[in-house]
Amino acid sequence: MTFDIFTTDWTTARKKIGGWQPEPRATDIFQGNVHCESAVVEGVKVYRFCIRPEVTAGKGKAKTSHLAKINKSYAVVGTADWKNQAVEDVDMPYDLTWLQAAAGRFDFHFTLPEWVRCLGLGERFSELNLRGTRHTLFATDNPHHNEHADMLYKSIPFLIIGDGPNYTGIFIDSPSPQRWDLDTEMVRSGKIELFTRRGFYFYIFSTATLPALVAAFTALTGRAELPPLWSLGHQQCRWSYPDEETIRHLAEQFRKRRIPCDTLVMDIDYMDDYRVFTHSKERFPNFDRLAKDLEKEQFKLITIVDPGVKKDEKFDVYRQGIKGEHFCKTAKDEVFIETVWPGLSAFPDFLREETRKWWQENLTFYFKNGIKGIWNDMNEPAMFNNQRPLPDPFLEMPEDEKQLFLQNSEDGPIGHFEVRNLYGFMMSQATREALIKERPNERPFVLTRAGSTGVQRHAAVWLGDNTSWYEHLQKSLPMLLNVGLSGIAFAGVDIGGFGGHTTPELLVRWYEVGIFYPFFRNHCALMGRAQEPFSFSPGVEEMVRGLIETRYKLLPYIQSLFWEHARTGAPLMRPMEWHFPDDSLAVACEDQFMFGSDLMVAPALRPNQRSRFVYFPHGKWYAWGTNQEIIGGRTLRVDTPLGYITAFIREGAVLPLADVMQSTEEYDATPITFHAYGAVAQGRFFEDDGKSFDYRSGKYNEWEIRVSEGRFSYTAVHQGLGEAERSLRAYCYQSSDGGGPANLALG
Ligand code: GLC
Repeated sequence: MTFDIFTTDWTTARKKIGGWQPEPRATDIFQGNVHCESAVVEGVKVYRFCIRPEVTAGKGKAKTSHLAKINKSYAVVGTADWKNQAVEDVDMPYDLTWLQAAAGRFDFHFTLPEWVRCLGLGERFSELNLRGTRHTLFATDNPHHNEHADMLYKSIPFLIIGDGPNYTGIFIDSPSPQRWDLDTEMVRSGKIELFTRRGFYFYIFSTATLPALVAAFTALTGRAELPPLWSLGHQQCRWSYPDEETIRHLAEQFRKRRIPCDTLVMDIDYMDDYRVFTHSKERFPNFDRLAKDLEKEQFKLITIVDPGVKKDEKFDVYRQGIKGEHFCKTAKDEVFIETVWPGLSAFPDFLREETRKWWQENLTFYFKNGIKGIWNDMNEPAMFNNQRPLPDPFLEMPEDEKQLFLQNSEDGPIGHFEVRNLYGFMMSQATREALIKERPNERPFVLTRAGSTGVQRHAAVWLGDNTSWYEHLQKSLPMLLNVGLSGIAFAGVDIGGFGGHTTPELLVRWYEVGIFYPFFRNHCALMGRAQEPFSFSPGVEEMVRGLIETRYKLLPYIQSLFWEHARTGAPLMRPMEWHFPDDSLAVACEDQFMFGSDLMVAPALRPNQRSRFVYFPHGKWYAWGTNQEIIGGRTLRVDTPLGYITAFIREGAVLPLADVMQSTEEYDATPITFHAYGAVAQGRFFEDDGKSFDYRSGKYNEWEIRVSEGRFSYTAVHQGLGEAERSLRAYCYQSSDGGGPANLALG
């Protein structure tokens, strides 16, 4: 029911006020084939349904019908022992039903009892519990991150429904656009509209714990491999550092001021008029030397690479693209052209294998010049004159020819809307493969804005164009937590905020949270106030330096958490309920999070906030920095002085922390200290070379560190490297006296 608030025609307006009506269920016109299988994945019973609608074509005697195609799944790569399963015997959770609502749309209905929570669903602008919100999954360059933000960059159709400590999952394995309504009308029901003309799979994950559910989901859709250690250090970016001189100056400042940093990032202005695979000869005359020179100062360089290729007959990449049929074409067989940063541009069809190969060959331009990592942006793909290309209203998927342009998948030509959500995913895949081809035993770093289910296999992500607002600092918590539950562990948001002007206080607060973002980057837009750590007064610089140093101290713990993710799918940032599912107060606590199993972070998120309430689950906790003991099972008001992190360590934990270093190149020679909290404690420590894939063949060490009555011991869970050369120290905290050095016993 729409109601024009500007009307003065009150009679008509009154007639329009109809009140809520139950939505009629679409008539079930589903004719086709449903096939079900089941398997136990990581201890979770999973049902997989294959749905193939019947398609009729022609009229009269010429009328034919066949089952719709089911396209290759790009999301699911994990295997399981699938066994045939009678559909009637499946006890569908939440009374889930589905039907075909139109030739190009399927509707799913399910109940959502009042008390259940909705989590996951990838990148959504929302609180942690998504209940009461609606989400369109259709890759969109949407810089307006506000309560009405619906379409965003990434699309991951995996919903987790939490009922007390029991969690159930629904996953639609289709890249096609979807609209998920999680009881916006408060009628205790959810609805999914899936817009497709093809067959698809969907999965039900039966009731399990939250970690088991995420383990099962990521066993099927993949986990991130260990990232290069340097990519976990501080990354500094700006749209844009205009020339080589500025970048060199930036590097100098970090080292001179002793602010740790590993990576400098070059945004679009390094290019010649935004032509991909080029550099500006005037502003970056020594492009070939820049990365190599900076490497001597222990910096890595990353460049942005956007998909749009400038339409310019004189530009060889454009000519190659035309000749090799690499660009997406309309149904009239014309190259599809739209405007992005370079002006009129053509868009490579990353679904085509030959196109990915061509792109990879061109990427060697960066590798030859010493560029270490690639940042894929605008890969929804963004189109300045058509940011939301879906028809409005969008009631069903139009036929392929009517979908803006066509792409060429392994399964043949397909309309762009059906596979748009795969564009960023496939671009990242091509980029990662290119890096591995070039440097076969170096762990690659790719960052992407757009992505879909399983994108963690190819790239790290950031959540696009946020703004320098406290609200966006706050939202980064629930958004990243849901992204993590959806399989993507290596994620972050722009620290300081991308749009608008940050303030010194906001920047410091953002670093207090940002040091826990798995992806740790300060980035800001062209028009905003500079926000490098030294852009403000010396006092502010001092605080930011201290926080970045804390990030570097945490690196051994962070490495161990990435190792855990690679094996179990567990995210690094976890909602409180991950570890305390039976504690209803912890479950309801959305402004605190767990960083691994040992650290609880409860940040200040508002201006002038010098204290906050923190909920401490049962057990004993130790305050970060002071080691003050706190008895849990209660809420306390805690001071949040600016420049300090409000984090607490669980009793029984052993945290491996490094000494301060200026870049991860110093990591191997940096002493590590094991901090044990409580009389009896236990923790893990992972180490490898931080660079290569050798860990795949067992070249790593994993230690189990134990402490009992002030005495440390460690045993190898796995020992594939020699004894570490580095110096190891140990501290044990049993009371608020600050603890003291403990005896580190070998073996
Ligand atoms: C997009 C990106 C942003 C980048 C800008 C210029 O807005 O999200 O991070 O700085 O483009 O390349």
